[in-house]
Amino acid sequence: MAHLAVAGFGKLGSALVRGALARGIVRSTEVCVLARSEPRRKLATDMGLALVEWPQILHAAPTVLLSLKPQAFGAMTTDVPHVTPAPHWISVMGGWSAADVAAKLGGGPVIRAMPSVAASVGASTTGLSVPAGVPKQAAEFARQFFGAIGPVVEIDEAHMDAVTAVGASGVGFACAFLEALAQAAMEAGLPPEAASALAIGAVEGAVAGVRGGMGTPAEIRAQVTSPGGTTAAGLAALQAGQMQAVITQAVMAARDRARELGGGASRGTRPA
Ligand SMILES: NC(=O)c1ccc[n+]([C@@H]2O[C@H](COP(=O)([O-])OP(=O)(O)OC[C@H]3O[C@@H](n4cnc5c(N)ncnc54)[C@H](OP(=O)(O)O)[C@@H]3O)[C@@H](O)[C@H]2O)c1
Repeated sequence: MAHLAVAGFGKLGSALVRGALARGIVRSTEVCVLARSEPRRKLATDMGLALVEWPQILHAAPTVLLSLKPQAFGAMTTDVPHVTPAPHWISVMGGWSAADVAAKLGGGPVIRAMPSVAASVGASTTGLSVPAGVPKQAAEFARQFFGAIGPVVEIDEAHMDAVTAVGASGVGFACAFLEALAQAAMEAGLPPEAASALAIGAVEGAVAGVRGGMGTPAEIRAQVTSPGGTTAAGLAALQAGQMQAVITQAVMAARDRARELGGGASRGTRPA
């Protein structure tokens, strides 16, 4: 029997398995995969993973990771056979609450995790919700599995829509900031390549400074802001442009959209 079965081997499912293999959390011979298209099936076999079909996946391993598109999950679980013992479920699917997944599969409790697209480069911070009733061994496996692709933030599932907004959509927001900084650099006269390299370097430097113990973001900002200096002039412009208010609006909009999609999923009407 495999140790882990993965339903859905797209961008995220394959990135998660790569991370776990690279860190030795599982061996390739311990993972089986449900994949649909030929390229994804080939990717799985090239990685040394066994293929499995639906519904055999339900008793192929003690833990089943659900990494399907939410609407595909809704379609493929209309007739779930009763499996004893039920596997431990881990869902990374957006839009489906743990309760809805459990109701659909006739089992539970369900661990929910929200990694980011940076899982593919081993740099995802994952929001993880482990409900009461999950066996200790299954909870520990989930912590190690997501820990293989970056830091894990354990959080009550009630906050998962906010986690989605900040941890997953936030990668998009940060990239939008990078684009804006590079665009501004070009408008300030820099050639495109230099503009992009300097913008990325600035953000990289800020994150490395925080991670490397230089201080909190607020402390590092204070360190680079001399009274009457260049950073102070730029920060005043950001403040005048209501930067904090705009970012708060973006997070609330993403959180509310995640909530809407979750409601749609539980009613089987989630949009594509
Ligand atoms: N990407 C992210 O950054 C991210 C972050 C957090 C959460 N998520 C969640 O993770 C889940 C997967 O996202 P993704 O980005 O990996 O999407 P994706 O690349 O489109 O992967 C979804 C996979 O599911 C497969 N699939 C669909 N129907 C199937 C079926 N009936 N049988 C077998 N396989 C089937 C697809 O197969 P084919 O390729 O053959 O069509 C595809 O490979 C989503 O629920 C998403 O909300 C994603």
